[in-house]
Amino acid sequence: MDVISVIRTKRDRGELSEAQIDWVVDAYTRGAVADEQMSALAMAILLNGMTRGEIARWTAAMIASGERMDFSSLSRPTADKHSTGGVGDKITLPLAPLVAACGAAVPQLSGRGLGHTGGTLDKLEAVPGWRASLSNAELMDVLDSTGAVICAAGDGLAPADKKLYALRDVTGTVEAIPLIASSIMSKKIAEGTGSLVLDVKCGSGAFMKNAADARELAETMVGLGTDHGVRTVALLTDMSTPLGLTAGNALEVRESVEVLAGGGPADVVELTLALAREMLDGAGLTDADPAKALADGSAMDVWRRMIAAQGGDPDADLPVARETHVVTAPRDGVLTRLDAYDIGVAAWRLGAGRARKEDPVQAGAGVELHAKPGEPVRAGQPLLTLHTDTPDRFAYALESVEGSYDIEETGGLMARPIVLDR
Ligand code: URA
Repeated sequence: MDVISVIRTKRDRGELSEAQIDWVVDAYTRGAVADEQMSALAMAILLNGMTRGEIARWTAAMIASGERMDFSSLSRPTADKHSTGGVGDKITLPLAPLVAACGAAVPQLSGRGLGHTGGTLDKLEAVPGWRASLSNAELMDVLDSTGAVICAAGDGLAPADKKLYALRDVTGTVEAIPLIASSIMSKKIAEGTGSLVLDVKCGSGAFMKNAADARELAETMVGLGTDHGVRTVALLTDMSTPLGLTAGNALEVRESVEVLAGGGPADVVELTLALAREMLDGAGLTDADPAKALADGSAMDVWRRMIAAQGGDPDADLPVARETHVVTAPRDGVLTRLDAYDIGVAAWRLGAGRARKEDPVQAGAGVELHAKPGEPVRAGQPLLTLHTDTPDRFAYALESVEGSYDIEETGGLMARPIVLDR
């Protein structure tokens, strides 16, 4: 087998054979296929697509590139969720302890933010002392003792995806449905969860900007999970405006704790409960009542134990940025649009995100929202507060904020529902 013929097949809109797929994924993982060759193939896949059969084989080859975890020794059924990524998407933080409080085991292997979307691990690292990297034995211990664990995926899990994802990120080949679906599902299937709920984001702040693409991605991933014996469902959810009232690491932890304390913004609570219901049903816990577990403090108890089990202090003060800048409403009216992508870019430019994988993030940086689309605003009232440790970033962040909102005289658009489809 040679890589040039594999690239040519896809370049010329052909279908890759199972043998070609197995060989190229394995050879790339071993270093026998060079980055520039895999980049060419990834671009050919982005431009010419893959059949469902090719995607299934590609996913299987990525799973086979590493180890598979096994949670069958746990006494509880496992349930996991994956979001395709968005702005202000802190849902994993309240959701994992909530679903654990209702009786499932939640192994949540998570990632870091890149570009305008945030990452769960960066958010939790704002909690003083909290550790993202656990050995497989530590992961099992935390899961067994608290019911939930949120940590980094080990190096042994789908190593082909680790290499390929880093390459796609710097070659403009992230936004390809076959590559996104196989990337996400190879990790989730290798992780060994019994059931999986996918939160497929749709809108300006998501990879998938329109409903048709989001639906195709969702259907592809559900098919892959089901074929591998993982009970998989997907919700299509809105990412045209940030989730909740915060985008940024410590800011989002604070908001998540508010949800666990029975408060928090309505959209975050609604989506947390909708995903919890799906996860519990997938795990066979159809009688569990997640709204009750939020209200009676049992989800908060699991959160505190889960944070402490990973070295974090759930009572510690969260980091606060050194400087703030308030953006006020220029006129009276109704806020009819607040763009998720623009706010995500602003948070990133303030220091909440990173431009390169190795960059550090600022725990306190980000954007706080004081109004959501559909709400009335008065001239001069705070619309957004920008937070950063490095005030020279304000001007750059403000460039992204400038065109991020519309204020109209009358009602305009009302808020979209958060769950668009199932
Ligand atoms: N998340 C992933 O894990 N992989 C992708 O390709 C996109 C989002």
